[in-house]
Amino acid sequence: MDADAAQPSARALLAFWRAAGVDMDEAEAVYAAAPARGSAAAQGSWAREEPIIAPRPLQRPKQEASTIDAARTLAAEAQTIAELRAAVDKFDGCALKKTARNTVFSDGVDAAQVLLIGEAPGREEDERGKPFVGRSGQLLDRMLAQIGLDRRSNILISNTIFWRPPGNRDPTQGEIVACLPFVERLIELAQPKLLILTGKAAAQTLLRREEAVTRMRGRKLSYTRDGLAAPVNAMVMLHPAYLLRQPQQKRLAWADFLLAETWLSELGVGRARQS
Ligand code: URA
Repeated sequence: MDADAAQPSARALLAFWRAAGVDMDEAEAVYAAAPARGSAAAQGSWAREEPIIAPRPLQRPKQEASTIDAARTLAAEAQTIAELRAAVDKFDGCALKKTARNTVFSDGVDAAQVLLIGEAPGREEDERGKPFVGRSGQLLDRMLAQIGLDRRSNILISNTIFWRPPGNRDPTQGEIVACLPFVERLIELAQPKLLILTGKAAAQTLLRREEAVTRMRGRKLSYTRDGLAAPVNAMVMLHPAYLLRQPQQKRLAWADFLLAETWLSELGVGRARQS
């Protein structure tokens, strides 16, 4: 890559890292290795097509069939995302609701063409009743802004479960399964052009895959399930909380965001001008 060609992508990369809070010594160290936006390397290694995945049956823990049926019925009755939000609020089949302060269903624009699903609410989310408003949410917002996505205008954000697990422990399979009918219905109602799954719980549950997030990220994938009218374009990203713990992995996150940007352009999804 010659120096002139490198400049726009280098500027964008440094802006992304600055937004993500990376110290610039590290940015300098890996700057030379970053392919330009739209370069052959970017297209070739990041934007490769993956076959549609045949989902495996989800491992369902022993759970009251009536709880899952109640979730399915409530979810199916909802004809809009607003009705689905109200249905989740009414649902008492997930024990986490007893210890949580608030139901955390979604934030952003219901009609957005991009839907992002994370894992579970943390302390701040539980207090405010909105997903991704704590430290990892602020990092997520800064990274999304780099590709013209903003929860006030063009993205809808939700989670795999809607109540905070005590002490921020990982959600159990039972909790995930209880909330799944609502998450599936959300995808069906939102009909996103791109579904972004961040973190293990969302990626493994919705894609029915047991691979590590690091193996699923950076690829064009597809979400489907019985009864869904058409498969949905999907991609997996490293979770922002993981990036806060492992800042050196932000270079992979940058590659994922470039893939998302390229894919959104191909799909004709309008975005805000990037600063
Ligand atoms: N992490 C998540 O996965 N979701 C949130 O809402 C907050 C942190």
